[in-house]
Amino acid sequence: MDARRTIEQKRDGHRLSPDAWEAFVRAYAAGDITDYQMSAFLMACFLRGLDREETAALTNAMLHSGGRLDLSHLARPRIDKHSTGGVGDKTSLILAPLISALGVAVPMMSGRGLGHTGGTLDKLEAIPGFRTRLTLAEAAAQIEAIGCALLGQTEEIAPADRKMYALRDATATVESIPLISASIMSKKLAEGLTGLVLDVKRGSGAFLTDLDAELELARTMVSLGADHGCPVVALLTAMDRPLGRACGNALETEEAILALRGEGPEDLMEVTFALGAEMLLLAGVAREPGDARRMMDHAIASGRAAAQFQRIIEAQGGNPAVVDDPALLPQAAVRDVHAAPRAGVIAGVEPRAIGYGITALGGGRTKVSDVVDPTVGFVITARPGARVERGDPLATIFARDAAGIAAGRACLAQAITIADRAEAPLPLVSHRVSGAGVTPYSAA
Ligand code: URA
Repeated sequence: MDARRTIEQKRDGHRLSPDAWEAFVRAYAAGDITDYQMSAFLMACFLRGLDREETAALTNAMLHSGGRLDLSHLARPRIDKHSTGGVGDKTSLILAPLISALGVAVPMMSGRGLGHTGGTLDKLEAIPGFRTRLTLAEAAAQIEAIGCALLGQTEEIAPADRKMYALRDATATVESIPLISASIMSKKLAEGLTGLVLDVKRGSGAFLTDLDAELELARTMVSLGADHGCPVVALLTAMDRPLGRACGNALETEEAILALRGEGPEDLMEVTFALGAEMLLLAGVAREPGDARRMMDHAIASGRAAAQFQRIIEAQGGNPAVVDDPALLPQAAVRDVHAAPRAGVIAGVEPRAIGYGITALGGGRTKVSDVVDPTVGFVITARPGARVERGDPLATIFARDAAGIAAGRACLAQAITIADRAEAPLPLVSHRVSGAGVTPYSAA
């Protein structure tokens, strides 16, 4: 095929037919279209947009670019959760073991860091030996045996998303409702799910920072799920500050382990339990949110959730001892405390600046070939609205060397603002979007 004709059509704002989407994506996955042609095409899509039918056609084309997990013989419900991307967002690492410990199969295909946001695969690979490149057969066998597999896109499953995701990260073409929707839903639909829960981030640190656009993104993905008979529930959750305290791959993995042991920070647990309850309700394992919450509390308090994480780590070649001793995770060479430069109230902790700060320390990518350093990042104890005195600790910087500490300090000075008063942060969970429409969120 002549890729230039299709790029030209999108560049000039024309609609593409389902056949054109299918042919273009298939040719790219097969290596017949180059990365530079796909990059130009993605920018045309970003600038010109896609209508609802084109978004569905792109999703289908990406889904058809690879194989699917066939788990239909399992008696258990198959439920996954995916986030549109945030900073400090380690809920997937907690929910996969927690929900699979409660009898639900969780086939979880995740991504790497994208833009300023972190990626579940990068966090998992902080665990020594952990292998995220599973074949379809390995993933299916592991889910059958222990109820969960945590995997990345490969040549075999969601290959188009694997390549397009990496290009979008490097070409500033992430923040697009159709491109995000097709990326997420193509890989989730390849998992053979009976239900999906989405965490759609809102606020200044989300890819889409306007509430109408965030709701539109949620509605689009819910309806793409319905096209394929997969019930989808989306919760809108706050990303106007990082979630939890740890930001950076190994640091977040450690915080997720602490959460599985019952020692997670309150905001992280509130969002995790809200998403987990939706997973258990969709699975039919819990009848109402209160039951779901009790089940999750018990799985954590009894040690079942942490033991399930050990089982998953062991099955994927990692060192399960990190769950008992998180100090076995890779550690930064140097660390230093960042203190408040003045007295006042914490007016903001800007996730975007924190995310780019992690990249500056070596913990994220600016080009496809970059290798991430799992050890670097921040543990931020400053919470919006809290009163601080001059010299109070706000965060700890984890870096490779003194230059990294200086870069981390510069990032935090910009990201954490102290003022005389602060506006109220966004509610942690604000809206619920399902096939029945949009409602204000209530945990009860
Ligand atoms: N997560 C994904 O998997 N894809 C996107 O485009 C954004 C977030």
